[in-house]
Amino acid sequence: MYRLLSGTCLCVVLLNTWIAGRSLAALFDAEHWLSHTLEVIGQTQKTLFDVSTASNYSRAYLLTGDQQYEDDFYKSEKDINQSIDQLQHLTIDSQGQQDRIRVLRQRVAMRMGVMETAINLHRRANGSDADNTVVVPLLSESPDGGISVGYAIQQVELEERRLLETRYQESRSARRGVVAAFATATILDIVLLVLAFELLVRAQRARLELSERADQILHLNSDLKNANTTLEARVEERTKELQVSNQELEAFSYSVSHDLRAPLRTIDGFSLALKEDFSDVLNEEGLDYISRVRGGVQRMGTLIDALLQLSRVTRSEVQREKVDLSQLASIVFNELRLSDPDRTVEWVAQPDVQVMADARLLRVALENLIGNAWKFTSKTPNARIEFGSSSRGNETVYFIRDNGAGFDMNYVDRLFTAFQRLHGDREFKGSGIGLATVSRIIRRHHGTISAESELGHGATFYFTLGR
Ligand SMILES: Nc1ncnc2c1ncn2[C@@H]1O[C@H](COP(=O)(O)OP(=O)(O)OP(=O)(O)O)[C@@H](O)[C@H]1O
Ligand SMILES: [Mg+2]
Repeated sequence: MYRLLSGTCLCVVLLNTWIAGRSLAALFDAEHWLSHTLEVIGQTQKTLFDVSTASNYSRAYLLTGDQQYEDDFYKSEKDINQSIDQLQHLTIDSQGQQDRIRVLRQRVAMRMGVMETAINLHRRANGSDADNTVVVPLLSESPDGGISVGYAIQQVELEERRLLETRYQESRSARRGVVAAFATATILDIVLLVLAFELLVRAQRARLELSERADQILHLNSDLKNANTTLEARVEERTKELQVSNQELEAFSYSVSHDLRAPLRTIDGFSLALKEDFSDVLNEEGLDYISRVRGGVQRMGTLIDALLQLSRVTRSEVQREKVDLSQLASIVFNELRLSDPDRTVEWVAQPDVQVMADARLLRVALENLIGNAWKFTSKTPNARIEFGSSSRGNETVYFIRDNGAGFDMNYVDRLFTAFQRLHGDREFKGSGIGLATVSRIIRRHHGTISAESELGHGATFYFTLGR
């Protein structure tokens, strides 16, 4: 915008200068020709004067016989020639004038010739009056144009006067042109000045607004900083509060789980005693109830164990050491194979995968992940479980893969929350705490966990271990 305006201003100023220059040049030109014409007119008058001076000297000589007048006559003849030369030179640009001057020159020559003849006659007659009466009339101008010098000069002058009139008009119009050019330039300059002033005012206003905004931003920034500081302090405070209440909650759930064991053991013991000691008294229905009570007790026992493990994971310190993850995974898998020797499951493990991690917590994580793979391949023929690692950016990702039941990826986010199960208890038994425990262990190592699966085509669980 500003560039465009500056460009326009520059163009206008240049245009003004050009127009003013052109009109001034036209004026100078017209003035030059005007003064030239005046000079030519002056020169014609001087020529006329020189001719009449020569004529006067010749007459004076004829009347007085004074030698001085004769000398002056010859001197003025030279002046006349110079004047005509000058006139010819001044009118070199006009062929018409040159022709007229040629005629003038001839007539002057003729007239001077007549005067010289008269002077010579007079000298020879030795000043007799009779001769003068013959000669003097010869010296007067003849109106027929035979030797009329005045007429010839008049013709030159007339032409110059005609030119003078034309050049006066040209000069007048050049003057008008100059006035118009300067008026236009002045008007344009005023418009430009007004525009420039308007722009300046706007720029100043914009600058003021900008500085006001900058002030506001500074203000807002400092407010934001203050708010941030307050927020940080609040977050810290809340985090501490949360940590404390988390610890309290963990302690509470630990003691609840722990304390629930004793009455559960009592129920378990007495229900067993009831089954063994009173089996002959109880009918079939009674025995069925007792076995249901015992089933529930066992389930509750497993649940309490799982909850205790979950809270232990949070409570214990992470102690990193060098762990052979391949070996640990194989140990966990072999334990599962021993617990269910009837099953045939193919185990594929990448050897020599070393990590720096808490060995005890990693064992719990692998027990859950490989345990899940074991469980969810229980209905798959040619079951296969795989352990391995791969690189992702500058991180190493470890994985447990199986070709079991798999799960619906739409619910993948739920998996790592406690008590969330994607399979029914009749299909695959479990309490839904395993992956929540794994997720906590990985988080405590500053790592990440994720899963990929396709229903009926197995699942893969990936995790990293941070630093
Ligand atoms: N390898 C797997 N294949 C298919 N589904 C899985 C697999 N691992 C976990 N899941 C799904 O995620 C759910 C949560 O797993 P999680 O280990 O937390 O619970 P669980 O195995 O059912 O019970 P728990 O581990 O507490 O005995 C499972 O119920 C199952 O639906
Ligand atoms: Mg599990």
